[in-house]
Amino acid sequence: MKKVIVTGGNGFIGSNLIKFLIKNNYFVINLDKNTYSKNSYILNNINKKKYLFFKLDINNKKKVLKILKRHKPKAIFNLAAETHVDRSIDTPKQFIHSNINGVFNLLESIREYGRKIKLVHISTDEVYGDIKDKSRSSENSPYDPSSPYSASKASSDHLIMSYVKTFGVNACISNCCNNYGPGQFPEKLIPTLIYNILNNKPLPIYGKGINSREWIFVEDHCRGLLTILNKGKTGESYNIGSGININNLNLTKLLLNIVRSRKIKIGKNVKIKFVKDRPGHDLRYALNSNKIKNKLKWRPLKNFKSGLNETFLWYYDNYKFFNNFSKKLFFKRLGLKK
Ligand SMILES: NC(=O)c1ccc[n+]([C@@H]2O[C@H](COP(=O)([O-])OP(=O)(O)OC[C@H]3O[C@@H](n4cnc5c(N)ncnc54)[C@H](O)[C@@H]3O)[C@@H](O)[C@H]2O)c1
Repeated sequence: MKKVIVTGGNGFIGSNLIKFLIKNNYFVINLDKNTYSKNSYILNNINKKKYLFFKLDINNKKKVLKILKRHKPKAIFNLAAETHVDRSIDTPKQFIHSNINGVFNLLESIREYGRKIKLVHISTDEVYGDIKDKSRSSENSPYDPSSPYSASKASSDHLIMSYVKTFGVNACISNCCNNYGPGQFPEKLIPTLIYNILNNKPLPIYGKGINSREWIFVEDHCRGLLTILNKGKTGESYNIGSGININNLNLTKLLLNIVRSRKIKIGKNVKIKFVKDRPGHDLRYALNSNKIKNKLKWRPLKNFKSGLNETFLWYYDNYKFFNNFSKKLFFKRLGLKK
């Protein structure tokens, strides 16, 4: 059985990736610091015989090295990161710690470990910045991050590529668009909307709701990451996108229609409420994912409407998932410049 490390495996994408890898007969070692956003709900039903967990900050080089030497994994998927743009406006330091220093530490650990191991680093479409015209960013587009979050992700991407060129580290980068699906921390847009719909609360939409994002079902992303592990070329980055863009207002309306079609009662307080915009809020992200499609033969499989429907039903059926978190963590408005 192939052994791999997933860092940040108690987060949204990390936990879905672990489930996916175990289903595909991998043994997974999860390294997670367990920050405010951790939850292992998705991991409740995995086969624990194929799984090990270490509560660990990826900045702890001594322990990371010890785990590498002891378990000799074939690869590391790095998903450990601070991820909420609004929080990066309020407290950028943590983003430098985990997203830049943490990656530096992983690279140094790999260098010192010395054996062949592949690093698949999970980055974001946000590094390309605001794409205002109708175009889509390719892997050759310039990086132009707007928030401390996206700047920290851009920094680590550059650091990784420098370690490939200078030290021969075997690494690939994936730049993915917005993920949706089961088990996402409820401060993010889709779970916030679902929680509020189910609790008769207004639906807060930043600015005028015209910010457009490309959305991919989390399992499609996970399959893309496994494809990169198996077929990705050292020193290459791969965009992972669905090609489906929708603005926040239309997304909210679509979700409301899905709920109505299920004959679920919607309370009278469930109304779109425009709230003050995030400073530096990029209007549009959009990826050109031809490289991974043509070179690695990956394709997204999930249709957006049915994926959103499935996602709503997951939160509806797993309502107790929301009880894992203090409500204070996802109700307080963050990211307003002081
Ligand atoms: N969610 C998206 O739409 C999206 C899109 C593109 C890329 N990404 C990237 O995917 C990765 C995972 O995102 P997510 O949405 O699952 O985030 P998340 O916030 O749900 O999970 C992040 C996990 O990382 C852990 N973590 C944070 N700092 C750590 C550290 N120093 N050491 C060890 N663990 C640490 C947290 O405890 C948490 O469990 C991130 O790198 C993010 O930039 C996310």
